Amino acid sequence: MRPLDLIQKLPKAELHVHIEGTFEPELMFEIAQRNGVNIPFKNIEEVKQAYNFHNLQSFLDIYYAGANALIHEQDFYDLTWAYFEKCKADYVVHTEIFFDPQTHTARGIAFETVLKGILRACQDAEQKLEISSQLILCFLRHLSEEDAFKTLEQALPFKQHIAGIGLDSSELGHPPSKFERVFAQARAEGFLIVAHAGEEGPASYVWEALDLLKVNRIDHGVRSEEDDELLQRLIKERMPLTVCPLSNLKLCVVDDMKQHNIKRLLEKGICVTVNSDDPAYFGGYMNDNFIAITKALNLSNDDLKALAINSFEASFLPEAQKQYWIKLIQAE
Ligand code: HPA
Ligand code: ZN
Repeated sequence: MRPLDLIQKLPKAELHVHIEGTFEPELMFEIAQRNGVNIPFKNIEEVKQAYNFHNLQSFLDIYYAGANALIHEQDFYDLTWAYFEKCKADYVVHTEIFFDPQTHTARGIAFETVLKGILRACQDAEQKLEISSQLILCFLRHLSEEDAFKTLEQALPFKQHIAGIGLDSSELGHPPSKFERVFAQARAEGFLIVAHAGEEGPASYVWEALDLLKVNRIDHGVRSEEDDELLQRLIKERMPLTVCPLSNLKLCVVDDMKQHNIKRLLEKGICVTVNSDDPAYFGGYMNDNFIAITKALNLSNDDLKALAINSFEASFLPEAQKQYWIKLIQAE
């Protein structure tokens, strides 16, 4: 079988996707209209033209503007359900979804409204689409430590529905150390921990995520390659990196997909996984990411299987479920 044909046949887990980043322009217009919210675009064409980013911040500005259309619980449901339909099409059988409550609570939307809408879609996806999922609440790192503490407090009544706590938004100037204390509390509450690090920020941010936040996974982490001692540690600890190839291309973390380091990192023995990050903004969902790297880096069937296996190994699924999917992949 050709590698491009194998992609669709492999069960996959997605470990790095921002639910607000799955907001397709068509749905954004529909929801904005029914809520009477103004978005800064006249039509869908204009939205798509605005999606020319030169760095992370130029993307985030547009991403937060789009999220303003989301007001009611049903909006969060519709957004999340639409993402699950993409998962089904790509044979993503498990997903660990980031959500950014502060993007919404800062506009006066209740934490509960956001969570309940997303959660109801997760429960329906389990029943109707047989896709399992977990939720990861992310703190916005451009906001204060105090704001993160408040958000953690709001999450506690819903603890049973939230698997992990993460860290996203503008990386440069907001190192993981800024949030050391709030992540210590999150760990004490029993949450698993992830953090965006080494996307635009330097390898030192990855060290901080490991040593100060005590993460279970690093989100992005591609700039770890600049520090050999760090690479040795990631290999030794089998610390997963949730890599997002189309995101890296769109945000100019790499100039050309042929220069992407995911294959080199895989060959060095790092537990790299493939993910879509903000698929509505970056040009594709899970399989589009697999296709892009397979073409640019000439990935083999064994490479693709290793990446799919890594996605389950690095997931927060119970061990028996991990093994179930890994065996299926090995038999493919
Ligand atoms: N990096 C940081 N913050 C984000 C991203 C990202 O790629 N996507 C959505 N929020
Ligand atoms: Zn991300």
